[in-house]
Amino acid sequence: MSKVVTVFGATGFVGSSVARTLLAAGWHVRAVTRDPNSHKAAALKKEGVQLVYIDPTDQHSISDALRGAQACFVQTHTDYSDPNSQKAEVTYGKAIADACRLADVGHVVYSTQLSVVKVIGINARHMDAKAEVELYMRDLDLPLTCLIVPFYYEHLLVPPCKPKLKDGCYEIGIPMGYTPLHMICTEDVGPIVDRILSNSRAYVHKTLSICGDKLTIGEIATTFTNALRPYIFRDKQVTSQQFRDQGLPLSNDMANMFEFFCRVDQRASVDTTRKLHPTTQTLDQWLRTNRDIALEAIVN
Ligand SMILES: NC(=O)c1ccc[n+]([C@@H]2O[C@H](COP(=O)([O-])OP(=O)(O)OC[C@H]3O[C@@H](n4cnc5c(N)ncnc54)[C@H](OP(=O)(O)O)[C@@H]3O)[C@@H](O)[C@H]2O)c1
Repeated sequence: MSKVVTVFGATGFVGSSVARTLLAAGWHVRAVTRDPNSHKAAALKKEGVQLVYIDPTDQHSISDALRGAQACFVQTHTDYSDPNSQKAEVTYGKAIADACRLADVGHVVYSTQLSVVKVIGINARHMDAKAEVELYMRDLDLPLTCLIVPFYYEHLLVPPCKPKLKDGCYEIGIPMGYTPLHMICTEDVGPIVDRILSNSRAYVHKTLSICGDKLTIGEIATTFTNALRPYIFRDKQVTSQQFRDQGLPLSNDMANMFEFFCRVDQRASVDTTRKLHPTTQTLDQWLRTNRDIALEAIVN
């Protein structure tokens, strides 16, 4: 009989990669969702994943999703438009942790982040929430692997990081100065989690900081230009404040996150990531494979 893994965030970027990879590897995958009728949930079901409805505020439904599971992957979500988003994400993450303990899950892989507020004194809600949940999971002594997932390539194609046309050139306005940004394609996270779960003893109680590429914004612009010719890209060299002033619900959290990335080395290793998943894509490879999607998002 297949081993059971419960995947939180299974209809999202990272969780869907994990759900699909583990399904292909022979796991019985329980995909957690608040809406089994959404098209993303329906697509997973069609591929053979079991959908499990939960109400994130109901501990019983979270516990039901974990009953009998040998493993669990946890990607929590940040609702940037909610002023109480950090509290909601922490409450949800802690409820999942309690349910993992109750169900005696054999291995929990948690998609975490470092605490921005603790290290540099400014708040990035999505990262600080995850760091707080990680501490709680450690206090419960869960059989835990923490996975620090960096900036997604996919997020270079959506506001507030999407390149903007100015004077015939697409400008990338991300406040990283000349510090390389650590990035990965979300599709590559699933195989990494598969490797971790299939070598549990080697990875329990470890933290892994993964990445597929480390590039300055100038290098990202050059990579975009080379992959997406005849379109030309350049680094706009924006400040944190200019980025914040875009005024989207996530602008402040992301500006603080980039400030943190500039000041704190997350010690992600491309080599270590490739040992876990040898075909982890560089940004150049990802852009060339997804050229049509990228151009549709940026140019059209
Ligand atoms: N953007 C980046 O570059 C980056 C990098 C590293 C980490 N992250 C983190 O990734 C997280 C988002 O993950 P993602 O991008 O993989 O997901 P996503 O594509 O944004 O999808 C959201 C997922 O979270 C679930 N969800 C949405 N609202 C929820 C709520 N209120 N309670 C419980 N579940 C909820 C959704 O499930 P249903 O709708 O099916 O219920 C869906 O599975 C963010 O918190 C961010 O901090 C982002």
